[in-house]
Amino acid sequence: MDARCAHSGGPLCDGDIEEADGVLQVFCPWHDYDFNLKTGKSSTGLEQQVYEVKLDEGNVYVKHSGELSLQPFSQVKET
Ligand code: FES
Repeated sequence: MDARCAHSGGPLCDGDIEEADGVLQVFCPWHDYDFNLKTGKSSTGLEQQVYEVKLDEGNVYVKHSGELSLQPFSQVKET
């Protein structure tokens, strides 16, 4: 899921994750909008971009732009 909230760009990556009725949701710390972690949909009608994730031998791969990242997430360096 994108780290920036689809509402006003809040830090969704810092949101609380809660389970309700078997569904994992993240709550944005700015305005408390909920987003389903699997679908990206919110009860507000907004939708957050989500990405397919693959775990392989302890590495995390995120599918974007049609290809799986060639670098494990844990090895990506910020520039
Ligand atoms: S910026 Fe995330 S709910 Fe408003």
